[in-house]
Order: sequence, then structure tokens, then C-alpha cells
Amino acid sequence: MQSHERPIIVLDFGAQYSKLIARRVREQKVFSLIEPFNISIEKLKAHNPAGIIFSGGPSSVHAEGSPKPDPRVYELGVPILGICYGVQLFADMLGGKVERAAKREYGIAQLDHHDSTGFLDGMDAKTQVWMSHGDSITKLPDGFSTIGTTENCPFAAVVDTKRKFYGVQFHPEVVHTPQGTRLLANFVHKICGEDSSWTMGSYLDSAIATIKQQVGDGRVVCGLSGGVDSSVAAALIHKAIGDQLACVFVNNGLLRKGEAELVQKVFRDNFHIDLHYVDAEKRFLDALNGVTDPEDKRKIIGRLFIEVFEEEAKRLGKVDFLAQGTLYPDVIESVSATGGPSVTIKSHHNVGGLPERMKLKLVEPLRELFKDEVRELGKELGLPDDIVWRHPFPGPGLGVRCVGEVTKERLDTLRDADAIFIEEIHKAGLYGDIWQALVCLLPVRSVGVQGDERTYEEVCSLRAVTSEDAMTADWFRFPPDVLQRVSNRICNEVKHINRVLYDVTSKPPGTIEWE
Ligand code: XMP
Repeated sequence: MQSHERPIIVLDFGAQYSKLIARRVREQKVFSLIEPFNISIEKLKAHNPAGIIFSGGPSSVHAEGSPKPDPRVYELGVPILGICYGVQLFADMLGGKVERAAKREYGIAQLDHHDSTGFLDGMDAKTQVWMSHGDSITKLPDGFSTIGTTENCPFAAVVDTKRKFYGVQFHPEVVHTPQGTRLLANFVHKICGEDSSWTMGSYLDSAIATIKQQVGDGRVVCGLSGGVDSSVAAALIHKAIGDQLACVFVNNGLLRKGEAELVQKVFRDNFHIDLHYVDAEKRFLDALNGVTDPEDKRKIIGRLFIEVFEEEAKRLGKVDFLAQGTLYPDVIESVSATGGPSVTIKSHHNVGGLPERMKLKLVEPLRELFKDEVRELGKELGLPDDIVWRHPFPGPGLGVRCVGEVTKERLDTLRDADAIFIEEIHKAGLYGDIWQALVCLLPVRSVGVQGDERTYEEVCSLRAVTSEDAMTADWFRFPPDVLQRVSNRICNEVKHINRVLYDVTSKPPGTIEWE
């Protein structure tokens, strides 16, 4: 069955792992979407799901106002997999019993199973699983039987093969359940009957068709930043509608070394996209003159970007749509701890407010994709690795890395140091292991000796972090010789820097950027 037409729906009961579950399903080349637990039954049906997964969640089924799905979900005739809190919902809603466990089970446990239903095929009879629950099922609903237990959990894996309800008290989606992927694969392929048709190649075809249908013979403008998301969005839309797309690339003077050239080369020379390059360096630097407060910088840069973009877009004549590289994590409705659904909105949007101002409709061709899928799509579209694997870069660019005053001279210094840092990371083969690497120029000077001379020059701080989603981050453990090479080269090759620091702050308490 084509999984794009019949997705697996992950119902989110407030689990920190909902996104991970959806990703694990997609790793099986099966399309999946996350919906809040209180989605209406009509909307759920409209998805035509091949299967439903109840995520875990922090609540107790007995807590007042605890999240529960519409009971008609059990009558849809669609297979359901309940995970952790999800399986307790079966017991609570279908006539079993859930009680507070005498002993809270948290961490690694050993699952013993004797499954003949196919659900746990490929998992060893004894296998490690990750548990995290305070409540426990003490009586199963009619129709269910137990196929797996752990020391503290007599109902660790349960099934009702007639109704196709499957439940596990452990988390199959996390790495601490090393064979959990098998179970998820069995559920989506064997039980829900999904094939593995959710590939980026097939997605590309359907995305092109959707864009064509949405845009018709209208015109689209896309703000290119050189980052992965806007680049993939632009390449995709261009493939769908060709010259009906115009891209605007604003050089705000806060870009990294070689960035403006790279973007022009890739999009104008390789893709032959109608690219409008705006050199607005002077305007931005004039506006930033004397400004040191980080929030003021952001506001000035954001406002000016919109102004410049709008001016350029007006020059294009009639435009109907604005393309945005919004990703799936930005649009998922997440369930807050209080049980009410809330919408996560990216706070850093660079073109915020533009669609309303310019009366443009939005084209957001990546809004169903996770970041790694966007990269895969980028490769499929023939974008170079330089762009597809580029670390994230903030909209306000080097403006928020040039701590203190932003001047052309300081920006050039920062650009040179940044280029050396990134080059050495590439040379050491570490670029892909790092979420983001950057250099900040600090608003202090230090004394040094270079040659026979005493110097009094700028100080920079290197920052490199690992992260999953930029919400939390840890500093990257470099081999010392890499840091040494970077420091030597920066002090020798960058005119105004005589001291290099390495930032060993995680997030929290630090942020990734300095400002
Ligand atoms: P922080 O510094 O808040 O950054 O830990 C988290 C991620 O967001 C990026 N970032 C921004 N992106 N506009 C953006 O488009 C911004 O104003 C902005 N500030 C931070 C940052 O590079 C990191 O990836």
C-alpha cells in the first residue's frame, strides 16, 4: 500500500518521544504524521490511516483531565499500537485495570517474550528494553493476551490479534531498546500492510505535483539565504514551476566568507534560477552603526531585511506566492503538560509578517519533512554537499557573532577567522559530527607578542556544539591538535586577532550563539 495515501498517524499524548516515533516510522520508508490526541474523529478518518500509534505521555490515566482519545478510535477497524501511556489507555478504556505500581520502573529492563503473532518477530527471546512508567496494568481487557514480560511488569507486551491492538509498556523508539525498530517495522509493514514507498524520490514526484496544483500559473518569490531549508525549497519549486519562480538573495554584509558567491554560483549558474542578488551591505552596516545591544541588532536586521526584500519583490511585478522553508517540527501541534494542544511556532522567522504585508499566499513545500529528510531531498534535487550539509546559520548572521560593535573591519576579521575554523574542521573530517561551529568576535582586546612586537588586538572565541534540534546542546570535544592548529592559523593569518578561546558551555545554560 502506498504509504503517502495511507499514513501512520502518531497520536501525541504529550510524549517527549512523539517526533521520534514518527521519524522511526519514516525510517521504514512509511509516511507518518503526528496529530494531537484530541483530534476529531472525522479529521482522523480523513487521513485514511493504515495504522495509529498512541504515544507515551507523562500523565496517569487516573489523573483528572488526563488526555484520552475519542473512544470511537477503537471502532475504526485500524490497527493501533499503544506505547507506554498508550497501552495503559487500552486497559483503562477497554475494560482492564491500571494501578499505581508499587515500584516505579525506570530505565533498562530485560524483556522475555514468547510471541507467535509476528509482532515481535526478529527480536531475541530475551532482549533489552527501556522502561519509564509509574502506573502499571494489573488486568488486561477482554480479548488481550500477554506475549512479553519484564521482572517488574507482567504486561510488558500485549496483543489483541482480532482487533489488531498491540501494546508495549516499554519505549521501542529509543536507542536503549536496541531491537525496538524491529517491532515498529513489524507493526507498520506486517500488521498495517504498508510497503516501503515513502522515499525521497517518490516524495519529490508528489511534491512537484502539489506545488503545480497550488501555484497554477501564478508567480512565486523565494528568499534565499544559502541555508539548507530555503535552498531545498527553491530548488524544489524551480523543478516544479521553472521560471514562475524568482529568488531574492539579500547580501546584508553579515554573511560568511564566500557565501554570496556560492549561492550565486549554485542557483544562477547551475540551476539557472531567476536569481535577484541585492547588495545591501552598506544599508545594513549604516543601520547597525554604534548598536551593541543584541535584541536591537536583531530587530534592526529583521526590519531592514523585510524592507529590502519587499522593495526587490515589488520590482518583480505581480507576485502571488511567497515560498518558505518551514519544516515539520515547526508546524506540529504539540501537546502541553496541561493537556491542551498548543502550537509551536519558530520564533526566529526571517520573513515574519511579510506574507500579510505583501498580501502573498504561502508555498511551504517542506512542511511535512524533518531536517534530515530535507537534506535527502536536497541531494535528490542535485544540490551540492556544501549546501545540503551546511551547519545552521542564524538570520541575523554575523551581526550576532560580532559581539559589541558591528563594523566592516570587525566583520572581515570575523569572516577570516570563521573560514579558518570551518576549513580545519573539514580537514579533520569532523564537520558532520558537529551540529554547528562558529566563531565569535568578543568586545575585548588583549595584549600579545607577535614576532618581536607587543600587540593589543581582538579576541575570538570558537564554539562547536553537538545537538539534535538546537533546543539543547553540548560543547564538542575536539582533539587538542585540531584546536591548536586553528588557534595557530587564526593568530598567524588573521590580522587583528591575537588570542583564541574555546567555549566549553553547554546549552542550557548558554545559548548556541553568543547574542
Ligand atoms: P540559540 O543561540 O538560541 O540558537 O541557542 C539556536 C539555533 O537558532 C539559531 N538562531 C537563529 N536563527 N534567526 C535565525 O534564523 C535568529 O535570530 C537566530 N538566533 C539563533 C542558532 O544559530 C542556532 O542554530
